[in-house]
Amino acid sequence: MILERDSRYSDGTVLGSMCTEPHPVARRVFREALHVNLGDPYLFPNAAEAERECVRWMARVLLDHPAPEEAVGAIVSGGTEANVLAAYAAREATGGREIIVPETRHFSFEKAARMLRMRLVEAPVDEEYRVDVDAVQDLITRDTALIVGIVGTTETGSVDDVEALSDVAEDRGIPLHVDAAFGGFVAPFLRRYRDLPRFGFDLEGVTSVTVDPHKMGLVPPPAGGIIFRDGELPREIEVHAPYLSGGGSRQFTIVGTRPGAPVLALYANILTLGEEGYERIALACYRETLRVVDAAKDLGLEPAVDPPHLNLANVLLNGRDAAERLLEEAERHGWKVSISSNPLGVRIVMMPHLTADRVTEFLRLVARVVRECGG
Ligand SMILES: Cc1ncc(COP(=O)(O)O)c(C=O)c1O
Repeated sequence: MILERDSRYSDGTVLGSMCTEPHPVARRVFREALHVNLGDPYLFPNAAEAERECVRWMARVLLDHPAPEEAVGAIVSGGTEANVLAAYAAREATGGREIIVPETRHFSFEKAARMLRMRLVEAPVDEEYRVDVDAVQDLITRDTALIVGIVGTTETGSVDDVEALSDVAEDRGIPLHVDAAFGGFVAPFLRRYRDLPRFGFDLEGVTSVTVDPHKMGLVPPPAGGIIFRDGELPREIEVHAPYLSGGGSRQFTIVGTRPGAPVLALYANILTLGEEGYERIALACYRETLRVVDAAKDLGLEPAVDPPHLNLANVLLNGRDAAERLLEEAERHGWKVSISSNPLGVRIVMMPHLTADRVTEFLRLVARVVRECGG
């Protein structure tokens, strides 16, 4: 079989992926909708309506939008396209060329900056890898087009103080984009039980948010999400699509023909799991993450952030040699690992396909490598 050598989430060896086994309902609906093209709402009006429903649901449930029907968004190819769209719209709206990002930003912002001929201005982070909001304030210039905050950084799962960033953005009249590609389906639920900053449209300064259904939304890829507070920013980048829908169609996404299957899969998940189901999954993943962090400490390892902000545990490594050794050993034992560089550590993304017990087996290997490398 052609996929023989490819990973399967279900065997519990994939430790560093933000994607996971799709929910069974999503999988079934996806298969039924293989022919659906969201680029042509004239041919697929129901799918187009499902996308609008998904956007409204995310705006209301995940992003606390005070008027969710005003939100404008799309399910796009991934968090990368979502972040590019946010930067593009901000550049067009402000005429500025600088994007202030936390130094923990995902590399998609580098792609955005290069494609859009913009510049990234990196702000430092604190000991929990959250952006330093005073530094952001100091970095603002007349050329600032966009400020970015992150809910769930790629390397440590850290959550920036978006409430404070929103105050700065609002005060200075600069768009604020929140990259919640990973945390968007987790933080809103954890926040009901533990202290995490708000990051949605209830904060006046937030103008757009990335939230990816193909990460913790349990939808098969490609399914990134970009949600704007209202139609103002996407209008800056939309174009007329002359031959579609009798000439009446407009698009602000980069991709023209877009797969409808992931959107219908998301819609099915929303109807099946709903807010309660997603909350249950987020809490279960977070509980396992806490167990992983405890297990790491019991083994003499040091977590990068303790307690972790979301369902991502990063365990520090004591040098490049240890990282190389770990990669070799992991390969030999069948683990699929992901090494972070800032901090140097091993990222363990506690997706629903992982359990703390399984990950603890891997941590024993990490502890041995760290010990043998002098830690
Ligand atoms: C915080 C963050 N933003 C954006 C992205 C990019 O998402 P995608 O790979 O879906 O383009 C990722 C991917 O892991 C991410 O962690």
